[in-house]
Amino acid sequence: MTAFEKFGFQSLDELKNKIKELNADIPVTEDISVLSESVAVGKKTAPNSLAILPMEGCDGELDGSPSQLTMRRYRRFAEGGAGLIWGEACAVAVEGRANPHQLFLHKGNLAQFRDLTDLCREHGEQRNGKKPLFLLQLTHSGRYARPFDNGAPMIVQHDPLLDPKVGITEDYPVITDEYLDALQEKYVQSAVLAKEAGFDGVDIKTCHRYLLSELLAAHVRKGKYGGDFENRSRFLLSVIKKVREAVGEDFIIASRFNVFDAHPYPYGFGVSREAEWIPDLREPLLLAKKMAEAGVDLLSNSAGNPYYRFPQVTRPFDQPAVNGEIPEEHPLESVARLLEFTKKIQETVGGVPVVGNGYSWLREYLPFVGAANKLRGGCAFVGLGRQAFAYPDAPRDIMDNGSMEKRKCCIACSKCTQIMRDHGMTGCVVRDSEIYAPMYQKGEKESDGKLRY
Ligand SMILES: Cc1cc2nc3c(=O)[nH]c(=O)nc-3n(C[C@H](O)[C@H](O)[C@H](O)COP(=O)(O)O)c2cc1C
Ligand code: SF4
Repeated sequence: MTAFEKFGFQSLDELKNKIKELNADIPVTEDISVLSESVAVGKKTAPNSLAILPMEGCDGELDGSPSQLTMRRYRRFAEGGAGLIWGEACAVAVEGRANPHQLFLHKGNLAQFRDLTDLCREHGEQRNGKKPLFLLQLTHSGRYARPFDNGAPMIVQHDPLLDPKVGITEDYPVITDEYLDALQEKYVQSAVLAKEAGFDGVDIKTCHRYLLSELLAAHVRKGKYGGDFENRSRFLLSVIKKVREAVGEDFIIASRFNVFDAHPYPYGFGVSREAEWIPDLREPLLLAKKMAEAGVDLLSNSAGNPYYRFPQVTRPFDQPAVNGEIPEEHPLESVARLLEFTKKIQETVGGVPVVGNGYSWLREYLPFVGAANKLRGGCAFVGLGRQAFAYPDAPRDIMDNGSMEKRKCCIACSKCTQIMRDHGMTGCVVRDSEIYAPMYQKGEKESDGKLRY
């Protein structure tokens, strides 16, 4: 590990020199034409290899419908020209919402979601001549559920490190196998509704230590969903199969899953039993293989727990959110970790495309690293998270001009994360400041300075 340093590169050569000095596995190429190539996803095709990652705005209506602000975000994403828009977290059940403004698709608001998918297709086609693929991320927030004003955690096992963070005492109940059995049907119903609403597919979200992600790490849970790998992966694999039966072959089933929790065994997934800091990818790679066998069409890796320590494992940054720690590693090492995870998953599942992430910290050099990764078989799509909030037109600029404009880039300041922690509606405070700087200030004023969830 090398000392933490903020981004300060003035040229691609300076970035390359630092990568060399750190001996980080981050490839770079100046030929970025590969990013304009289309990608087959299941029975469908994305018009290029750039993806918008799921980025929750926490701005839905109280009934779960997209609001005008949600529509604005997706219109900007669609106009930006990415081939794949991986829509944000959308709850499958009221009690699984991460906040009262999280999207929640149900029979009563199908028409509003249909408006959202129509808007994306129309604006994508009008501006770029091509329609993006549009997925919806299905989720249950488990430990981090806050459907109304206060947290209402639903845990699959007790965790001595995480329980105190959300006020869970020893006698707090663990959700039952019966609840989990019934929940599978909710994923199926939500996927069927998503298809009716015009989405191209759904993601069975299994990352960031929400319910399904915690299940993968449920080593100490009793019963059929805890203990060995077969039990811990039962829910996810079963949902993938059931959704496939319900939606047919012409609908994408994806999964974004944590390959490394950076959380100690027996409470973490993808970690060595010796140290939480050492990834052990044997189970995550086996899981990727099993998901491919179960009929998944698309995968994306993520890592870490954004509500706990080490947020750089999920998103490399210059500045942490309030009360966040400065990492004991260089952000390029954090980027390299995520790239390695994507590459290993892509190599394991071969023909199933994998969407990479963790590129936003690289600013205007993002396309040079993304293209090199794709060229070496390390991913099928280059995913933009915070960069899409800051610079939604980045995909068009990359494909049309061969470059991104420095002045429009995300600066990895974590202010969009901070708004979420302060329970506000989020977007880029720096590059979309007219709307989001007041939201940030409001949160700053109203929060008590504590890192909430
Ligand atoms: C404000 C915010 C909202 C996010 N919402 C989601 C989400 O709904 N689902 C998800 O899987 N990841 C979510 N993420 C994680 C991003 O998709 C992405 O993995 C992460 O930011 C790293 O990619 P980047 O470096 O391009 O930002 C969110 C991240 C941020 C900062
Ligand atoms: S607020 Fe904007 S610049 Fe800061 S991390 Fe979020 S997207 Fe990037």
